[in-house]
Amino acid sequence: VFAGIAQAPEDPILGVTVAFNKDPSPVKVNLGVGAYRTEEGKPLVLNVVRCAEQMLINDPSRYKEYLPITGLAEFNKLSAKLIFGADSPAIQENRVVTVQCLSGTGSLRVGGEFLAKHYHEHTIYIPTPTWGNHPKIFTLAGLTARTYRYYDPATRGLDFNDCVMALSLIQDLFFLTGLVEDLSSAPLGSIVLLHACAHNPTGVDPTVDQWEKIRQLMRSKSLLPFFDSAYQGFASGSLDKDAQPVRMFVADGGELLMAQSYAKNMGLYGERVGALSIVCGSADVAVRVESQLKLVIRPMYSSPPLHGPSVVATILRDSEMFNEWTVELKAMADRIISMRQQLFDALKSRGTPGDWSHIIKQIGMFTFTGLNSEQVAFMRQEYHIYMTSDGRISMAGLNMKNLPHLADAIHAAVTK
Ligand code: LMR
Repeated sequence: VFAGIAQAPEDPILGVTVAFNKDPSPVKVNLGVGAYRTEEGKPLVLNVVRCAEQMLINDPSRYKEYLPITGLAEFNKLSAKLIFGADSPAIQENRVVTVQCLSGTGSLRVGGEFLAKHYHEHTIYIPTPTWGNHPKIFTLAGLTARTYRYYDPATRGLDFNDCVMALSLIQDLFFLTGLVEDLSSAPLGSIVLLHACAHNPTGVDPTVDQWEKIRQLMRSKSLLPFFDSAYQGFASGSLDKDAQPVRMFVADGGELLMAQSYAKNMGLYGERVGALSIVCGSADVAVRVESQLKLVIRPMYSSPPLHGPSVVATILRDSEMFNEWTVELKAMADRIISMRQQLFDALKSRGTPGDWSHIIKQIGMFTFTGLNSEQVAFMRQEYHIYMTSDGRISMAGLNMKNLPHLADAIHAAVTK
């Protein structure tokens, strides 16, 4: 019965690893997937995670019972505190409902399904460009994905004109451009996906001032923020600083959705551990929202897994382990920053044509190089360097050994 089935294409990001694994070349480099690698090119399990796992193994009181549909309660509380802040008014007023989900993807999907069922507006605006999975997640959840301008290739920065924004407050839509124009013309109440920090794939984030303007604009049009926070701690190296834009939206008392992932910042990729929080208008609404989230989750996977959130809760509840985590997280972020500088220097020393300062200006795990798909294909063919076809490279996959090879490849690609 399945004889006529068509071969589906590989995933644009995870398929890069599939192709990389098939390549027998000894010089191959995988800069596709956003997964941290050590200076030796190896995956990293954080020391604090190993300690937490050991504590869990040694605890005889632990069983493998089902978790509730909403997941591990302590993990949910600690996750909300991590992103919204310990003194968050929304938490204190019991207006936040948090459910454990399968990493960032699962959190976005559960949030998307909830909105499709219970929210009056089904259009979600996602930035151009964005993580390749976003439009698929929301479309399959039953929402309609539209785009808003985010990245300006000409400036390699945010497509956001501050002067125009100032004018627009007193004049009309005619003066608007880019991100501001697109969000201003979105229908009232539309959902807007925002990367909380370290935008994937561009590494370009709004400044605090721009965030404030985005917040004002969105609240004035009742646009519902849906944050994706996959890199808290990776943008600035500080968990609190990276959460600042989100906290600005919570502080105004309005509603929002938040998808959190511990894949990158705790290195728990394969454990699939994340959380969806919905900040509601009142404690009473939050109780009802939680009851409906359970109806979304139960027929999907019944209840989430136990190990990952237990590791996270062990670390977040203990101040010493928490501090150790922040040190290890900062070390990962710092190594990536140093790779940015080294790559920039390597291209400069080769005299590679072009302005490569965006490599050091962009933040987070990725550099959006500006290389086109032909140049990317050339680098794969000739240099066995693997990256996504949009020219994104995962800086986390670079080290002192493979960096000169990448610089040679980029130089050859842009001068051929
Ligand atoms: C990435 O963008 O490389 C990561 O978020 C991994 C993924 O699932 O795509």
